[in-house]
Amino acid sequence: MNAVITAIGGFVPPAILDNKKISETVDTSEEWIEKRTGIKERRIADDDTATSDLASAAIENLLENYNVDRKEIEALVLATATPDHILSPTASKVCEKSGLTNAFGVDLNAACSGFLYALETAASMIESGRYEKIIVVGADKMSSIVDYEDRNTCILFGDGAGAVLLEKTESNYGLMKSILRTDGSGTSSLLVPAGGSKTPASMQSILHRSHFLKQEGSFVFKKAVASMSQVSQDVLAKNELDTDEIDWVIPHQANLRIINAVGESLNIDSEKVKVNIERYGNTTSATIPLCLWDFREDFKEGQNLLITTFGAGFSWGATCLKWGIMRDDKTTKSFRANVRKKSVLTV
Ligand code: UT7
Repeated sequence: MNAVITAIGGFVPPAILDNKKISETVDTSEEWIEKRTGIKERRIADDDTATSDLASAAIENLLENYNVDRKEIEALVLATATPDHILSPTASKVCEKSGLTNAFGVDLNAACSGFLYALETAASMIESGRYEKIIVVGADKMSSIVDYEDRNTCILFGDGAGAVLLEKTESNYGLMKSILRTDGSGTSSLLVPAGGSKTPASMQSILHRSHFLKQEGSFVFKKAVASMSQVSQDVLAKNELDTDEIDWVIPHQANLRIINAVGESLNIDSEKVKVNIERYGNTTSATIPLCLWDFREDFKEGQNLLITTFGAGFSWGATCLKWGIMRDDKTTKSFRANVRKKSVLTV
């Protein structure tokens, strides 16, 4: 029994924060940001939009476009590092907003590796035979924890959400073996110091801006390159795949230089490495599903994908999957109809 992706949805808020605007508020430049990160702009949710709204919008996009009956969904695994509240679970709110009345919902926080961890969890639930249809969503409102006075971090992050439907299959399509890793000694290099049980909110914590994300950028950068490169090679070996059998690489989108370095270490054609960081920045739990959503037209039945991530914790990992047969996609159908219409007109 395998678990295969049969539908995808995505959502990014309409408001754009570009490098020009950031360079007007902190000591940086448009050129520096683009050259050092590959990011040109990111999407920012408005004050009334919470992570649950981003997640629900991505799920709605999936349910609508692929004609999925929401009543059939048995579970929702929500990867997020920016829950609506510390208590109660954001997944409960998402189930309510998305009308998933026959599903249970659970939050999973593994920062930038959250979606991969959630995918592995949901796939295992399906492979066990206990569940047949699970939605996995990665959603983050990073703008709620980013310090827009800190040039080390405010250039990097954006808001967004992506969702996939995982279904049972007896074919050989779907998720293969994964490798997931954590190392808590990396905690202090990338975290939001206050607002949790270790340092509850206080006047002091607010004064020190400790409710915002802090990062030792270049240390995390080096760890990310080394870990993603190694775990990608290990997961290929575990699945008995050669690099040239991989059709597409979907890396976590934290920095274009990290993505390029990982691609080079794998000795893989850069055309095969999917990148959309220039438009969204680092959306944490949402980068992988947003990439799958953005490039879904490129993936063909039977192709092999390699997914790899690195994030706070530290948390990292990789998996391979064989692309299967998607449910009927309204957006693809109308896209094809438009192409046909256009070519008829040209003739
Ligand atoms: O998704 C979770 C995992 N996160 C990551 O993987 C992110 C990893 N880190 C990064 O993407 C990069 O480290 C950054 C983009 C955050 C920083 O780039 P870097 O090339 O590692 O720069 P750096 O931290 O080594 O700093 C180099 C210089 C410093 O100046 P000095 O000390 O050489 O004079 C910084 O103060 O660049 C300076 N700098 C900036 N200059 C202009 C740092 N941020 C900026 C900025 N604009 N925004």
